[in-house]
Amino acid sequence: MTRSYYVTAPIYYANAEPHIGHTFTTILADTLVRWQRLHGVEAFSCSGTDEHGEKIVEAAAKNGETPRQLVDRVAASFQATWAELGISPGVFVRTTSALHIRNVQALLQRVWDAGWIELRTYEGDYCVGCERFLTERDLVNGVCPDHERAPEKRRETNYFFAMSRAFGWLREHIETHPDFIRPARYRNEVLGMLRDESGLGDLSISRPKTRLAWGIELPFDREHVCYVWFDALIAYLTGAGFDGARAVEDQSPDFVARWAVAEHLIAKDILKPHAIFWPVMLRAIGLAPPVHLNVHGYWNVDARKVSKSLGNMIAPRLLRDRYGFEQSRYFLMREMSFGSDANFSEAALVERTNADLANNLGNLLSRTLNLVEKFCDAQVPEPSLTGAAETTLAAAAPAALAEVEAAMAELRFHDALAAIVAFSVKVNQYVDSHAPWKAAKQPGGDAILRTSLYWACESLRQLALLLAAFLPATAQEILTRLGQPDALASARIQNVRGPALAPGTPTAKGTPLFPRLAPPAPEA
Ligand code: ME8
Repeated sequence: MTRSYYVTAPIYYANAEPHIGHTFTTILADTLVRWQRLHGVEAFSCSGTDEHGEKIVEAAAKNGETPRQLVDRVAASFQATWAELGISPGVFVRTTSALHIRNVQALLQRVWDAGWIELRTYEGDYCVGCERFLTERDLVNGVCPDHERAPEKRRETNYFFAMSRAFGWLREHIETHPDFIRPARYRNEVLGMLRDESGLGDLSISRPKTRLAWGIELPFDREHVCYVWFDALIAYLTGAGFDGARAVEDQSPDFVARWAVAEHLIAKDILKPHAIFWPVMLRAIGLAPPVHLNVHGYWNVDARKVSKSLGNMIAPRLLRDRYGFEQSRYFLMREMSFGSDANFSEAALVERTNADLANNLGNLLSRTLNLVEKFCDAQVPEPSLTGAAETTLAAAAPAALAEVEAAMAELRFHDALAAIVAFSVKVNQYVDSHAPWKAAKQPGGDAILRTSLYWACESLRQLALLLAAFLPATAQEILTRLGQPDALASARIQNVRGPALAPGTPTAKGTPLFPRLAPPAPEA
């Protein structure tokens, strides 16, 4: 039976244009799907836009737009951005779509019927940025550390989701499933939150319509709309093919297969809703928790989180125009160690991509294919020698693959890329030590010339496959120049094992794949 894989990126707020933070998580989801497909797995992802709630109403008012105008414009911009950058978000769920609204209402009704929702009066500190009441522990010096603003005191009659009933179950689930929340530091953080349950309590899941009309009406009380987080998390079910017109127990086989393997990718800002609200919501709904909650750190600029509200965003299209998108994609995945914060700087992007992509991989490709054109009629030559150097190089690709496999099993994207680049360094060293350009001019040097260029071409094929999930356009370009333009569509990662490139295959040297980037101009 074909294995399934379902990963979600967040459902981003449709209150401003995408920045590198959103781009990063979406790139990771795209890379994971491609990586799984290279293993023959039926892989699938979802992302989307979170379009209800006060944040949207506030942003629309500020722009002089209606909420509807704002979310239509921003949702279109997110979709266009992903399409232009060649990142596939998989299914794109808009939380204002009729299908999603039906799902949320069906599930609210089910959770209400099962007795998990109660009407109560509540007073607390509400952060509009987070769209939730904050507890004492969330505040730093009286302000929300994420939005750098003081919460407002609010008193409301709300419907409450009786989340606290399931804290014992949740704690046990996390304890008995050590890699449910990973890396471990976030698991420990969540267990810490659950140790002192009094700080958590139940979750207010409604807003009176008199105060907020931009939301999904509660099916059991039309005077209230649903709290935006309760609505947005359900988008992961909508993305997997959940159909609210049918009972939870009667969903399609596709949905069942996807949900059984579901995993989420988020940054640490939304750990609590995903690690606490969501598993309990799923329990009330009657569905299993996701298999993994994968949590990465923040991209910071000058030690501050890149965010819309702080106004220091970096637009992905700008990165593409200035540095190339494959280079940016490489930098983001290579620079951040999954789970930790990383600092974004254009100087670091230029330095790293020049070193790893321009001087190393790109240079290997140009010089190999230039020499093949010059000395071998632009055809992959036939090797005739098998020395220790060839045997060592032949073993290096499967060894790199084993390292990449191990790294990807733990979402260590940066280690996976480091292993691939280390392999390309070895290939460059092999070419240097055989100096085919010298061999070409020496009597009897033909065997060295042809053997070393064959292995350089074969190693480039292997590098392209290893890179295919991470830098898909680069992989495609390398394979096209090696006369294999259709290889990626049906490629399997085990094809890294070789040698597989047929002598005589036509090659095309092309222009430099990664022109050296100039360092950014110093700020005036
Ligand atoms: O929280 N570094 O949406 P959002 C790394 N709608 N990743 C970052 C980042 C940064 N500086 N800034 C943003 C929401 N991200 C809710 C989600 S899900 C059911 C609802 C990424 O637009 C990261 O993935 O604020 C983070 O978790 C997400 O954007 C927050 O996006």
